[in-house]
Amino acid sequence: MFDLHQLRTNCEARNIPIISKATEGFLAKMLKKTKPAVCLEIWWAVGYSGIYMANIINKRWGKLYSLEISYPGYREWRYNTIASQTYNLISYPYNALEIPLEKFLPQNHVDFVFVDGQKAQYGSYLAKLENICTDKTVIVIDDVIKYHHKLISLYWYLAKKQINYDITKLEDDDGVMILHGRTKK
Ligand SMILES: C[S@@+](CC[C@H](N)C(=O)[O-])C[C@H]1O[C@@H](n2cnc3c(N)ncnc32)[C@H](O)[C@@H]1O
Repeated sequence: MFDLHQLRTNCEARNIPIISKATEGFLAKMLKKTKPAVCLEIWWAVGYSGIYMANIINKRWGKLYSLEISYPGYREWRYNTIASQTYNLISYPYNALEIPLEKFLPQNHVDFVFVDGQKAQYGSYLAKLENICTDKTVIVIDDVIKYHHKLISLYWYLAKKQINYDITKLEDDDGVMILHGRTKK
């Protein structure tokens, strides 16, 4: 039987960066509150957070999409998805910055986005989301306190578009940013 806790231990032993337990708890709360049907994760390594979130949204037939640039990571994700029988996860082995995200979504919008990629590219990710976010889309961005110094492109983008945000501290040294609604102004 697939054990998500064992996947966490395995990722930690191999230094694969995955979400903290605090972020995990926060995501569970947000997903239960917002009840999204179409979710996107930016991006998901070997699928730890993907499997975790997919199991929550599956109760309402929700689907979770993502891309993963690392082919070995993508292959491991496929293995973990099949082993955990998490069939509402859909991933592709591409560099997400090189292709339009809407191409991979059957509906051309998302209800919920979790951002956990390369910190220096967070501004580019938000620009890419412009075409698929609606007024109701919720975006959660991870690691915004610990890696504040790497988030120049994110803060530049938010200032340019005059987008309001909230930051929730989840641990002594880290937390998440929450954006509500369309990123396009
Ligand atoms: C922090 S890890 C994600 C961990 C995941 N959220 C979890 O907790 O299980 C970030 C991943 O983004 C991938 N990545 C970075 N830039 C990417 C891009 N442009 N397109 C697709 N994947 C990318 C990296 O290969 C890495 O596996």
